[in-house]
Amino acid sequence: MSPLRVTRTLPEDATDAALRADVLNGLTATPKTLPPKWFYDARGSELFEEITELPEYYPTRAEREILLARSGEIAVASGARTLVELGSGSSEKTRLLIDALTSLQVYVPVDVSESALTQAGQALIEERPALSVHALIADFTGRMSLPETPGPRLLAFLGGTIGNLLPAERARFLASVRSLLAPGDALLLGTDLVKDEDVLVRAYDDAAGVTAEFNKNVLAVVDRELGADFDLDAFAHVALWDDEHEWIEMRLRSLTDQTVKIPALDLAVEFADGEELCTEISAKFREEGVRGELAEAGFELTQWWTDEAGRFALSLSTAG
Ligand code: SAH
Ligand code: AVI
Repeated sequence: MSPLRVTRTLPEDATDAALRADVLNGLTATPKTLPPKWFYDARGSELFEEITELPEYYPTRAEREILLARSGEIAVASGARTLVELGSGSSEKTRLLIDALTSLQVYVPVDVSESALTQAGQALIEERPALSVHALIADFTGRMSLPETPGPRLLAFLGGTIGNLLPAERARFLASVRSLLAPGDALLLGTDLVKDEDVLVRAYDDAAGVTAEFNKNVLAVVDRELGADFDLDAFAHVALWDDEHEWIEMRLRSLTDQTVKIPALDLAVEFADGEELCTEISAKFREEGVRGELAEAGFELTQWWTDEAGRFALSLSTAG
């Protein structure tokens, strides 16, 4: 068993500077926004795992169903010796893929959540001692560089996390993913699909309130990291379907007129009663849209699989 290698691609003070810049820009903008990557401290990563078990949150179960049925085909088509996974989190579903990839030598999970990465990485090297695991703490929306590992490579981006990027961010992201791969390497992409509005809204506004806690966790992160005094009880969780853009939008609605102080930025932010802060979009897709966005970035979509109920899709594409 080789030890878990963990590489931080940016120093910790760069993460701190990025948080400060995002909070300053996002909370002085109209409407106010915060990027979703700041949900995922250790508590946020735990809450996401709880979300994946909720009866209303179908994407994880649907994607697992597809991976169970198709991992063998993915392994044959890719012949991958290196599996790179962006936003890997707990790497839970990835185990299905790892077990099917008979030529696999190296797994490179990439995530901003150090706690999720090290827990998942450590468990994997213990469970699969022949596998070399090289974890990267990195922001996949920034410039990424991967370790030198044997090809062919399969790059997986699961869970529908691509839907958390705005369309222009998605185009930049897919182009950057293409630049990490050689011609003939493969991309495995999970995308949640457009469906009935009630089903979608329930998935993001569950009865047990776990998604509400996950949403408010971004305020707890800003309180802890920047000394802010957000009162989490003074905001309500909101999830709504935007029919024009075909995305779910998660917001935090101020329950009163209030001023929040952020000492690390020497900033006081006013919230009017009812004012909403946008914390995440979760875009839902259609096959032709996914095919087109991939083609724009230099990928040819070769396989499109959905779960039995047609809620979620996994697509396999080749880098041209
Ligand atoms: N792939 C897993 C986890 C999805 S949750 C699954 O399908 O269940 C989204 C994951 O992406 C989290 O682990 C989060 O920490 C990570 N993440 C979110 N934004 C990121 C970013 N900009 N760069 C790197 N990782 C990010
Ligand atoms: C990580 N990502 C795909 C999740 C989603 O469904 O958009 C994050 C999430 N937000 C609320 N619930 C889950």
